[in-house]
Amino acid sequence: MCGIVGYVGFRQAVPLVLEALRRLEYRGYDSAGIAVHTDSGLAVLRAEGKLVNLLEKAYAAPVSGQVAIGHTRWATHGPPVERNAHPHTDDQKLCAVVHNGIIENYVELKEELKREGAQFSSDTDSEVIAHLLARERGSLLERALSVRRRLSGQFAVVAMDRRENGVLVAFRQGPPLVVGFGEGETLVASDPAAVVSLTRRCLHLEDGDVALLSPQGVQIFDATDRPVSRPEVVLDWDPGQVERGGYKHFMLKEIHEQPGACAQTLQVLVGERGFDLTPWGLPPELLRSLSSVHLVACGTSWHAALVGKFYLETLAGVPCRVDYASEFRYREPLVPPSSLVVGITQSGETADTLAAMRLAKDKQALVGSICNVRGAMAERLSEVKLPTSAGPEIGVASTKAFTSQLVALLVLALAWRRARGEADEALERRLFHLPYDLQQALHTDSSVEGVAGELQHARNALYLGRGVLYPIALEGALKLKEISYVHAEGYPAGEMKHGPIALLDEDFPVIGLCPAFELTEKTLSNLEEVRARKAPVYVVGDGEHPRLREIAQRLVPLPRLPWPLLPIVAVVPLQLLAYRVAVLRGCDVDQPRNLAKSVTVE
Ligand code: F6R
Repeated sequence: MCGIVGYVGFRQAVPLVLEALRRLEYRGYDSAGIAVHTDSGLAVLRAEGKLVNLLEKAYAAPVSGQVAIGHTRWATHGPPVERNAHPHTDDQKLCAVVHNGIIENYVELKEELKREGAQFSSDTDSEVIAHLLARERGSLLERALSVRRRLSGQFAVVAMDRRENGVLVAFRQGPPLVVGFGEGETLVASDPAAVVSLTRRCLHLEDGDVALLSPQGVQIFDATDRPVSRPEVVLDWDPGQVERGGYKHFMLKEIHEQPGACAQTLQVLVGERGFDLTPWGLPPELLRSLSSVHLVACGTSWHAALVGKFYLETLAGVPCRVDYASEFRYREPLVPPSSLVVGITQSGETADTLAAMRLAKDKQALVGSICNVRGAMAERLSEVKLPTSAGPEIGVASTKAFTSQLVALLVLALAWRRARGEADEALERRLFHLPYDLQQALHTDSSVEGVAGELQHARNALYLGRGVLYPIALEGALKLKEISYVHAEGYPAGEMKHGPIALLDEDFPVIGLCPAFELTEKTLSNLEEVRARKAPVYVVGDGEHPRLREIAQRLVPLPRLPWPLLPIVAVVPLQLLAYRVAVLRGCDVDQPRNLAKSVTVE
């Protein structure tokens, strides 16, 4: 959720930390702040609202120093006003901290600290950490080791102390922290997107770790205070990927990156080797021995899982169940012996998905991930690691990560099918043309613009699809509601008559997904029923179907494709539609209200 960053090195830290915060702003944009170690103590600058407000303050009163921490906030405790912005300090301004997460025992700690005379200046849970660190004895590292033990809940913390220049401490329990190494400089952040401008060499801190950061590198102590080393990973991202590169919004850039993202995902997973997932921990004999798959995920990634169920059951012939990770973790799910449980997650850090994967592990399942961030927690928890290679996704609304997840799921199903001795070679070959299909799908933007123009004042929208297109109806509706704030629902077209049809009138637009596939005629009949209720009908569907053109007020044409490729291609015009509507309505596409990219608390 919140974005945090710390720098210690030889450069002026303020511009560097502000730049890193700019790359993290998608994690929260209620307020922002920095603290710098200066010759006369800790200087703290904070501002309500978006990062630009902090930038104005920072440029108006430049501060010099080579050690700094910064934060962009997604409010949990206390309203999004300046006094609740991070960094927080103790009343003597000895320590400054930035924090992501929730301190569950902060009320008790705050009472205790108040009894000892501490004066609080915010409504946050985070401020207790600064007071605790300031009051403990010993070096900053020793104090961090002891404070970490006093906190319960979920936290990623970076802290500095006026009495110890040249070092920072970082500790975590739950939300992620990644340490990047430059030459004579070290950076810590909640997300690799902030690290990649400095270096690709990094390591992920584990739960319970406390790290002491200096320009020379990092010393790490585990949950039992023992020194440990964590494996270094090299990020497969480049700094250009975290820039908008001429596009007005990251979301539009990322929509256009989909042909490349899917090609790269395919190349990494399959390459010249073919549909054999041995390098990712799934050799054919293991696939043959598995009895079922369980996919767990949240949000858009959950929609990918729903499509994955079609792939796995239809193509691979293996029973597949799909669960919201947040539901799976709080019931007693039946996970039969020899099941594979796969967490699907762009960030690899979604708290509920990680908890569901841990639960599956406890139940002795083989645990896997489909994840877009190398070395993220979801990968570290997994024996089977299927990477998506979409590159960093900065827009809060997921696009290229979603289509890359679908590619990974399709590869999994095809590899499974091959392991059973029934390879579908035609589909395997056809999959390599998908990037061209996606390129074509981007050309629908001009017809989508017409639909967006008519939808921009709508207060509601219904997305209908059948079969493998039903999850795409859900995804289209989610995209529209999250960035344009138009209420939208996805529904299986065949269920419409069982309730939602009552909503329809001339002010209730319906978007039907009706490509050429085995359910075209059935979907078409449902769209006829919509039309009969005078609701405006827009269709993303078979451009060659004569009746569709009659029914649809506007038709966004889709090419004829094998059914497994349809969801991957059909979602593109829906992403574009949500984008165009949001722009017409003047919404902040990349930073929609109340949302944050990585949901690291439940
Ligand atoms: C919607 C969106 C979210 C995420 C969800 C899971 O556009 O991006 O619904 O899909 O928060 O995130 P990951 O995939 O990182 O686990």
